[in-house]
Amino acid sequence: MSYQAHFKVWRGDAGGGALGDYEVTVNEGEVVLDVIHRLQATTAPDLAVRWNCKAGKCGSCSAEINGRPRLMCMTRMSVFDPAETVTVTPMRAFPVVRDLVTDVSYNYAKAREVAAFAPPPGLEPGEYRMRQQDVDRVQEFRKCIECFLCQDTCHVVRDHEENKGAFAGPRFLMRVAELDMHPLDAAAEAGVDRKAAARADHGLGYCNITKCCTEVCPEQIKITDNALIPLKERVADRAYDPLVWLGSRIRRR
Ligand code: SF4
Ligand code: F3S
Ligand code: FES
Repeated sequence: MSYQAHFKVWRGDAGGGALGDYEVTVNEGEVVLDVIHRLQATTAPDLAVRWNCKAGKCGSCSAEINGRPRLMCMTRMSVFDPAETVTVTPMRAFPVVRDLVTDVSYNYAKAREVAAFAPPPGLEPGEYRMRQQDVDRVQEFRKCIECFLCQDTCHVVRDHEENKGAFAGPRFLMRVAELDMHPLDAAAEAGVDRKAAARADHGLGYCNITKCCTEVCPEQIKITDNALIPLKERVADRAYDPLVWLGSRIRRR
């Protein structure tokens, strides 16, 4: 069954903008991205939107729908009352390029600050078996589609541009946790202290575990419980017992 919906879509660029009003047809089974595409095909041909897979896997179509960070392609129109106005705005934590498209380069800069995985030198394929629990942990974190909805929603940067220099955000603190807990990561041998970096370089202390990042993750990754809190515990253990760090280095030799 089709109906006419009322949409408000933010239109503008880095210089400013405003919500535009649109009446648009919605068909059964459609998602918000379908409606945005219908606007492009009808009354708003110059509406800018970033998307790619329309299957919740590329992480491109992130926006805020009625104020909540969501993927447009995974938000069914059936979750809204047909009489309800649906408001679509760009992610607030990042600078607008145009309309619904934001400049997410902050995230790429933060990704580059995390030292890469370093396998033990000389380890040949097949020489090491990972325990299933280590595999499961890594696989959960690797489900990330880099939609940056968690980055957008975290209050540390959402309303505080000034924190962006010091804070990597949940997605990249999760990456640090993934590597720090990886049984094969030998970054320490290469002089990389991931726990010290988590605090000093990636701003772990800014996170006060509000869990908003976890609530918006479309991959249902338990970012706070499985990455951020364990990383905080590992860093705290170190702070109380520096011999843990020294011992771990000696054991690896
Ligand atoms: Fe998106 Fe979840 Fe990855 Fe954050 S952790 S970027 S919310 S998929
Ligand atoms: Fe931000 Fe998630 Fe921590 S929302 S404060 S990174 S728990
Ligand atoms: Fe790829 Fe929405 S278009 S996640």
